[in-house]
Amino acid sequence: MSWLKHAVRNPIGAKVLMAITGIMLTGFLVAHISGNLLIFVGPQAINAYAEGLRQFPAVLWAARAGLLVAFVTHIYFAAYVTMGNRAARPQPYAFSNTVQATLASRSMVLTGMVMLAFIIFHLAHFTWRITDSEISAMGEFDVYQMVIRGFRQPMVAGSYVIAMVAIGLHLSHGIASVFQTLGLNHPRYNRAVRFAGPAIGVGIALLFASIPLSIYLGLVK
Ligand code: HEM
Repeated sequence: MSWLKHAVRNPIGAKVLMAITGIMLTGFLVAHISGNLLIFVGPQAINAYAEGLRQFPAVLWAARAGLLVAFVTHIYFAAYVTMGNRAARPQPYAFSNTVQATLASRSMVLTGMVMLAFIIFHLAHFTWRITDSEISAMGEFDVYQMVIRGFRQPMVAGSYVIAMVAIGLHLSHGIASVFQTLGLNHPRYNRAVRFAGPAIGVGIALLFASIPLSIYLGLVK
């Protein structure tokens, strides 16, 4: 395991581990939104999907464990890289030249913290079902009714949409950085890579946001 020790003490290794765990977390988001979009197909489709996931508890728990490890590793190295950058330059630059730095890149710590707060609330809301007594009293597999009930409330739907803005910004810069860190960029494709991050990030965020918005606006009942 000496490669791991070396990787964790080296800022490049830390960035590579952040990139790998970021890819894993984005993979989870793509799988999660693919399942969630079944809400537009109807109650039977999404409830059967949720029930289907529970048919294979070993696979479900292995996926959860992998997700948790990726999540904790990503946050640990994010803190390590951010604190390393600050320690290397305790005084901010006299002239802040942020022409190249986008809003997304400058707000990675903030959007990451919003995502963390969102995930804690989201688990309490839909997985542990402890934030809303009506949801707590629902049948275990009526995921459709649970989500409809959740997003009919303006504060809840609004909070999810705000969280999706943070997710869109975080993924936009995060995905572009993965190409850079893993050396997958080439002068010929730089423009395409710079476009791919925001396109994928904003695309995923819009798909997620479409669910609370459609339910709140009464398009899905
Ligand atoms: C607005 C769109 C979203 C909807 C409608 C939604 C819906 C759900 C539902 C219904 C569950 C519980 C599934 C069940 O117990 O059967 C769930 C679990 C979960 N969601 Fe979401 N979700 C959304 C967005 C997100 C986002 C953006 C993230 C991550 C940033 C996320 C992360 C999770 C996690 C980690 C779980 C727990 C998975 C598990 O039990 O293993 N969700 N979501």
